[in-house]
Amino acid sequence: MIVSGIFDPISQKELQELLQIRRKNHLRDLEVSVYGEGVLDIAERRRLLVLALKPYRHMHVVDEEGEHLESIDEEKIRQGEFRLAAKGIRKELIEKNHYLDVIVDAMCKPSRAAHSRRVAQVCRELAHVHHLDEAKAYRMGMLHDITKKWSDEEGEKVLKIHDPKQLSVSPKVWHSFTAVYWLKENMGLHDPTVLNAIYHHTIGDGRSLYDHILYIADKIEPGRGYDVSRQRKAAEENLVRAAAMILAESKAYIFEKEGIHV
Ligand SMILES: [Fe+2]
Ligand SMILES: [Fe+2]
Repeated sequence: MIVSGIFDPISQKELQELLQIRRKNHLRDLEVSVYGEGVLDIAERRRLLVLALKPYRHMHVVDEEGEHLESIDEEKIRQGEFRLAAKGIRKELIEKNHYLDVIVDAMCKPSRAAHSRRVAQVCRELAHVHHLDEAKAYRMGMLHDITKKWSDEEGEKVLKIHDPKQLSVSPKVWHSFTAVYWLKENMGLHDPTVLNAIYHHTIGDGRSLYDHILYIADKIEPGRGYDVSRQRKAAEENLVRAAAMILAESKAYIFEKEGIHV
C-alpha cells in the first residue's frame, strides 16, 4: 500500500497517522511518498520524509503516488511551530533556514517583514566578509524582531514568568527578550549564538561577533533612509570597533532628540 502526502513538511501527527494506517491494515510494510506543490521543492520534502521515517524499519519512501493523506499541522509548522514537525526533522528545519520567509510574514507586519529581510541580508554579507557562518547570520537577522508586533500586555505576561528582571527596562526593548522565549518555545531553537545576538540586539550590549553583526545590521540596513556608507565600511573592517562607534552615535542621537541618557 502506498500513502502520499504533501509533507511540507511531515508533522509528528502525520507520522503517527502513518503508523496507525500500517497497524490497522495489518501491513508488514507501508510505502510512503510525497506529491503536489509546496513551499519546499519535492526533492527536499522527500529528503525530510526519509529522515523522519528512518527509525521505522517497515516504512519506505517511494516515488509512486498512492492514496492521499490529509495534511495535519503542516501550515502551523511552516509558520514557526517547528515543535509540531516529525521529531527527526526539527533540527533540520532550523539548520537549513526553511520557511523563514513564511514565518516572518505570519508574525510581522509587511514593513517589519521587509526590514527583517534587509537586516538578514546585511548580516549575511558581514558574516561573509568576516568568514563567519552566513546561514546562522541570515537566520538571526530574519528572526530578530519576530515578537515586535506583540502588545505590551503580551510581552509583560511572558517576561513576568520567563525573564522578570527585564520588566524594569523600557517596553520598546522587550521584543528582544520575548523573541528568545518564542524561538525556544515554538521553533525549538536553542542555539546560544543566535539567541544571544537577538537578546542583545536593541541595547547593543552583546559581546560576540554575531551580537555585533546583528546590532550593526539592524542599524545600517538600506531601508533606514540615511547614509550609512561610513558605518558599513567600519563594520567591514572591524566589527568590535564599528559596533562601539554606532552605539556611541545612537546614544548621542537619543540624547539630542529626547534629552535622556540611555
Ligand atoms: Fe528590534
Ligand atoms: Fe530590527
